[in-house]
Amino acid sequence: MKDDIINSFNRIALLEDKWDHNQQYEKLLIREISNQDRTALDIGCGTGEFAQKLSKKVQGVYGIDLSPVMIEEAIKRHNEDNIQYNIQDFDEISEDVKYDYIVSIATFHHLNLERALPKIVRLLKENGKLIVLDLYEREGIVDRILDCIAIPANYFLRVLKNGKSVDDEEKAAWEEHSHLDEYMTFKELSNVYKEYLSKEIKLKRLLFWRYMLVYEKK
Ligand SMILES: C[S@@+](CC[C@H](N)C(=O)[O-])C[C@H]1O[C@@H](n2cnc3c(N)ncnc32)[C@H](O)[C@@H]1O
Repeated sequence: MKDDIINSFNRIALLEDKWDHNQQYEKLLIREISNQDRTALDIGCGTGEFAQKLSKKVQGVYGIDLSPVMIEEAIKRHNEDNIQYNIQDFDEISEDVKYDYIVSIATFHHLNLERALPKIVRLLKENGKLIVLDLYEREGIVDRILDCIAIPANYFLRVLKNGKSVDDEEKAAWEEHSHLDEYMTFKELSNVYKEYLSKEIKLKRLLFWRYMLVYEKK
C-alpha cells in the first residue's frame, strides 16, 4: 500500500503547480502562526509550496514527504535557506527533535490517526500547535447543502484560476490516485481528534470538501 502511495505521488509530483482547493485555504493556516522565532514541521510537504510560505513566518521549516520525487521537486521549486527537506515517512520520524508548529495539508487521510496523533503530541513542544487541512467524507444534510454551493463554485474558480483546458496527464494521474484515498466523516474525525488530542480542539468544516483542525498543546 505504501509503495502504491509513493508511486502515485511520484507521478503527481511532476505535474505543474496550479491553483487548487488547498491553496484557497493557506491563508487561514498561516494566520495561526504567530511567533516568528519558532520551528515548524510540515508533514507531507509535497512540492514545498506551503513550506516556502511557512518559511517566511518562522525561523526554520522541516518538510518531510514519503515521495522522493516530491522532495526533489520541492528542492527545485520552493527552496529557502531556512527549509530542510527530507524523504521521510512520518511513521518512522525520530522523536528526538520537538517542534513549535506541526502543519499538514491534504496528508492526514494517508496516516493512521490512532498511531499518528499521540506521536504528534509528543513531537510538539509545550504550547506548540498542530494545524491541519485535510479532506473528509461528506454525509448528512449539512454536507449536502455545502455540496450544492461547492460544486458550482469549484467549477467557476477552477476556470478562473487555471483556465478551461484540462491536462490529460493531470487527469490520469489523479484518477489513478483516487482508489488510494479513503476519508473519514466529520463526525468520525471529531471523535478521534477529541479522544487523542483534547476536547478543546478547534475543528471546522470548510466549503471545498475539507476541514481545518487547530490543537494547542497545554
Ligand atoms: C495530496 S499530497 C499534499 C502535498 C502538499 N501538502 C500540498 O498541499 O500540496 C499528500 C502528500 O503526503 C505525502 N505522504 C503520504 N503519506 C505520508 C507519510 N506517511 N509520511 C510522509 N508523507 C506522506 C505524499 O507523498 C504526498 O506528497
